Amino acid sequence: MWPFRKRYSLENSGFFKGFIDWHSHILPGVDDGVQTMEEALRILVEYERLGIKEVWLTPHIMEDNPNTTTHLKERFKELQANYTGGVTLHLAAENMLDNLFEERLRHNDLLPIGKNGDHLLVETSYFSPPIGLSNILLRIKAKGYHPVLAHPERYVYMGESDYRQLKGLNVKFQLNLFSLGGAYGARIKKKAYRLQKQGMYDFAGTDLHRLKILKAMLHEKI
Ligand SMILES: [Fe+2]
Repeated sequence: MWPFRKRYSLENSGFFKGFIDWHSHILPGVDDGVQTMEEALRILVEYERLGIKEVWLTPHIMEDNPNTTTHLKERFKELQANYTGGVTLHLAAENMLDNLFEERLRHNDLLPIGKNGDHLLVETSYFSPPIGLSNILLRIKAKGYHPVLAHPERYVYMGESDYRQLKGLNVKFQLNLFSLGGAYGARIKKKAYRLQKQGMYDFAGTDLHRLKILKAMLHEKI
């Protein structure tokens, strides 16, 4: 799956040909990701050059960044109106498992990910799980959604048994591609390679927040 390990830079690996980016913060001005339409469009031009086929825009929704579905849909329409290239754009969200999420889940006010609209991209704090994580995941499933955990390798509180337990609950795992490049440190890189070797990942995404990060990562040897 990762033919470029230690041998190629991502730029020259051809890895991105036909790639679907399942995680990005390219929708401008809605979270800590890209802030301007201009930067968003420049990133999409880079994506075209790399051969990326589709990108899921997954802005944060959390108590500290309470984007509404309506607002995100409006911003998405603006981006679609400004972008004339060939990368297919999709809107979803990265949902922090906090009280706001519980409320949105109760009201079915969600932006799911995936063609069938039946997956939900979720994250937790990097340092500690929400109280009753398994129960929250079960409530998501009871509503008919498959939970997809964003960047499992980045949670410092998660170890082997946690990953196995989550897999036992049929939670899907989404790799941050740049974890493999060491963007978040050596420990996370090691964890990401281990999970990848164990076949734990179902999806991969860039989690891209800035054009300059993409450019830096493209020249990194992974
Ligand atoms: Fe993210």
